[in-house]
Amino acid sequence: MWEYYRGKSIFLTGGTGTLGTAILCRLLNQAAPKRVFILCRGGLESAYAKWQKLLPDAMATALSQSSCVTFLSGDITLKQMGLHESDWRALKKSVQVIIHAASSISLTCPLPKLVTSIIAPSLSLAEIAMEFADLQHFVYISTAYVNSHLWKTTDRCDVPVKECIYSLGPYQEIYDPHNLEEWAGFGPQTEHEWRSVLDTGTSIEFDYNDFPWPYAYAKHLTERLLINTFMQNEATEKLLIVRPSCLGPATSQPYPGYSSLSTSSTGLAASLMLYAGNTMKLPTRSADPENEVTMDEIPVDVVVDRILSHTAKGTFGCVHAVAGKRARLSFNDWWSAVMKERRLPWLVKPEWLPLDWHSPKLHSAAKFYVILGTSFAFEDDQVSRLLAKLNAHEKLHLKLFVDEIGETNPYDLKPRRHRIRQMGMKIARKRHLPGCFVKLCCRSGPPTNQALAQKAQHSMHDYGSTLGLGVVSKETEGEVVRVK
Ligand SMILES: NC(=O)c1ccc[n+]([C@@H]2O[C@H](COP(=O)([O-])OP(=O)(O)OC[C@H]3O[C@@H](n4cnc5c(N)ncnc54)[C@H](OP(=O)(O)O)[C@@H]3O)[C@@H](O)[C@H]2O)c1
Repeated sequence: MWEYYRGKSIFLTGGTGTLGTAILCRLLNQAAPKRVFILCRGGLESAYAKWQKLLPDAMATALSQSSCVTFLSGDITLKQMGLHESDWRALKKSVQVIIHAASSISLTCPLPKLVTSIIAPSLSLAEIAMEFADLQHFVYISTAYVNSHLWKTTDRCDVPVKECIYSLGPYQEIYDPHNLEEWAGFGPQTEHEWRSVLDTGTSIEFDYNDFPWPYAYAKHLTERLLINTFMQNEATEKLLIVRPSCLGPATSQPYPGYSSLSTSSTGLAASLMLYAGNTMKLPTRSADPENEVTMDEIPVDVVVDRILSHTAKGTFGCVHAVAGKRARLSFNDWWSAVMKERRLPWLVKPEWLPLDWHSPKLHSAAKFYVILGTSFAFEDDQVSRLLAKLNAHEKLHLKLFVDEIGETNPYDLKPRRHRIRQMGMKIARKRHLPGCFVKLCCRSGPPTNQALAQKAQHSMHDYGSTLGLGVVSKETEGEVVRVK
């Protein structure tokens, strides 16, 4: 499947983010694309600064010096993403694959703001994409929680979610983007809804459905608007919508443990480290929450491999990138791992209450992560279909599934200590707590990126060669040599 990318040009937005950086590394490492255009705020300089926080120095340097990466300084909230007409001309002429990963990931940001940071830019990019001479795939990165409003539509404790579009009307209808006839009546309704969001900052659909965050609704509406655009242009088969659940640290690519502060379970763990109480009020309707409440976390490299292989094999429509029923965590697994890391000498016990997820009585972390007392059974049948299209050699070199948590592979937060402490510092700044309190509460660990850089197998020599930059000789170690 890597052959698909040989000689292709890719336009990647969000290439400095957690997911985008991992996509870029994997592409350069494994495939031989002709060019990757990266849209980023502040261009090369700021991309390099961001990669330095995510990657070992040598790897950040290698990416920023790669001769097949072109940096386009832009901002998705601006008209035409702030790019020059000449940049668009170059993109329209040469790009075959667009991966749109740039997005606000602020869960609580109000809907009117998400119009400019999620919905409008994605729609505008899709419209421009229709003018690309040789576009083969447009990949939109959404979230599995676009359908989290389903929690409120049933009494079940484990809510099944299909790789489809759920209508937000009074009747829960399901649309499969593969079936155009069914979609026909739904399109104009979505346009009407979008007009309402633009004119009034909300819509009946948003008000009627109880989404945990405006972010989830914004992604839901974006998915439907994109389907409309591609359908109207008879290009439905070019649109792939990938819905990751919660991104977790990488198992191996770009390096084991690669992660950032956008990992929600890390943020949640940090707030528990700093919590001085001994009980935490959490909402649930489950009779046995410790075992029935679940958390779906997927290593970022599994998401990357699913995105790149689905794209290469021509999957279209909606695809979940999730741990799924097989490998999601029980609340117990997760909570025990957090308590093991906690430094304050008393443990916190969850106090499960039959409260609404917007109840003011909840602990602040539960108010923010709202879905903490829920369980979603995300279907991921599309990955089984994908497997059937891959040969044995391809399967061997892809990481498409999450390892199950068990006795031999317990869920462990130890490798994330550095990120948990960083997140603790961020929380402390907001709450005006002293840094020394964070140091007292959060264990220290080596910065994942630099620690790994010191390991022999991840030396600068390896980074230079694996990122397609040519071999760096021992004599020139310290500077990355580019092969033109
Ligand atoms: N994190 C998760 O657990 C998770 C789960 C499900 C889905 N997702 C989705 O996955 C995608 C990537 O998320 P992530 O976790 O990688 O987030 P991230 O680390 O915060 O990265 C977001 C990326 O979007 C870019 N971006 C944001 N606003 C922009 C703007 N106005 N103009 C240009 N670029 C902008 C950022 O650029 P800068 O470097 O300039 O800030 C960054 O490269 C998003 O679509 C997100 O909704 C994430």
